Amino acid sequence: IPVDVFDLVIFGATGDLARRKILPGLYRRFLAGQMPDDSRIIGAARADLTNDAFCEQVRAAITEFVPKDRQDPAVIDAFLARLAYVPIDATGTNGWAALKALMRPNVVRAFYFSVAPSLFGDIASRLHDHGIADAWSRIVVEKPFGRDLASARALNAALAQHFSEAQIYRIDHYLGKETVQNLMAVRFANILFEPLWKAEYVDHVQITVAETVGVNGRGAYYDKSGAMRDMVQNHMMQLLCLIAMEPPYHFDPDAVRDEKLKVIRALKPVQPEDIVRGQYGAGSGDKGYVAHSENPASKTESYIALKVNVSNWRWQGVPFYLRTGKRLRARASEIAITFKQPPHAIFDDAKGWRENVLVIRLQPNEGMNLMVMIKEPGPGGMRLMQVPLDMSFAAVLGDEAEETPDAYERLIMDVIRGNQTLFMRGDEVEAAWAWTDPIIEGWEARGDKPQTYDPGSSGPEDALMLMHRDGRRWREIKE
Ligand code: BG6
Repeated sequence: IPVDVFDLVIFGATGDLARRKILPGLYRRFLAGQMPDDSRIIGAARADLTNDAFCEQVRAAITEFVPKDRQDPAVIDAFLARLAYVPIDATGTNGWAALKALMRPNVVRAFYFSVAPSLFGDIASRLHDHGIADAWSRIVVEKPFGRDLASARALNAALAQHFSEAQIYRIDHYLGKETVQNLMAVRFANILFEPLWKAEYVDHVQITVAETVGVNGRGAYYDKSGAMRDMVQNHMMQLLCLIAMEPPYHFDPDAVRDEKLKVIRALKPVQPEDIVRGQYGAGSGDKGYVAHSENPASKTESYIALKVNVSNWRWQGVPFYLRTGKRLRARASEIAITFKQPPHAIFDDAKGWRENVLVIRLQPNEGMNLMVMIKEPGPGGMRLMQVPLDMSFAAVLGDEAEETPDAYERLIMDVIRGNQTLFMRGDEVEAAWAWTDPIIEGWEARGDKPQTYDPGSSGPEDALMLMHRDGRRWREIKE
């Protein structure tokens, strides 16, 4: 779908996210011919840079973060020609008149707040007060969207003073991932799965987002956040919603978000025995989590596993086991749906029977794998064995998969198109915090400490117990 001509202003244009994701992503869309001629990107940040100096920073970012075979010097120059830079004081008066002078009438105006949330309100009101934003303008805000319900409400209220909900695009980059959107295609464009997608046939669901990276340079942010706020409240919650939601009547922003909201509201409070928190210790050349924290006694979790229940008709009694962590054995994110036994065993080899499992691999090696039972080959009678119906999207789609835009590229283009389907609505974010807050308050009140786990392992021992207790096992974390 083509996009309209736009002026995109990036606040925090010299920051890490802009350098690693936003600007290289925009270059890739430009290279793909998706950025209409005449569109412009205006960097705005505190640093007193000239246009040229900013362009050189962006060139360096493209060189570093875009694959070499996508770096075409002539295209890079043409892209840089679309850039401008304004030094701006987000909490003061400097730069706002200059920014206003750069904005053109009759083009889509989008403002990307790639800055600390404490500045959201300041920037929103200055855009309004200086007459820079109009009724068609869009603003894009990044996570963390608050650190609890109260702060999220305050942010929503600050933005709502000057912008309507239809103008606010809250990014959760997981929703921009190709395979995450594929969850909806798999569920709602096939007849095969949906009839079985309920408590009657599903034994349990496992959602894993495992990372090999540690917190590295982000210690100060992460220590105030932890895996629960950093990953579960947003990314994992979105995955859970897409798996658990009812079919929306249409693939339409509010229809989809209404259904996700219902799932979040149906989440039961989580009991203390259904939560396992971990923190990676020293080992494998890593000095351990606390080496990155300002607090040597930090109780922040770099790993969390939870057993979650969705209290509604469809999912009654089906546990959703969620886990995510840093410095784990492999980078592997997947959703696995384990189905129940057939109602009656007609084969004598009942011991050979294994559950049907549908695995959706989010990253890396995106694809789907359905474990099915067949007869073991040979004359030895009717013995059963489990085999995979395995599909790698890269193998099936070939070059098309190569061209897939990354999450940020897609989401920014959706902002320009004015499509909010893959963005979180304010009530959704608040509902997610309303579920998260008591969990965090609970462990803080109990003074719980996370269990130490080895870097490169599958996480803390207690997480295994969370499943064993229920007679189940985590799937292996592997690429
Ligand atoms: C971010 C978190 O939102 O998502 C990071 O703040 C995390 O801590 C990252 O590493 C994971 O994203 P991805 O796309 O690499 O899975």
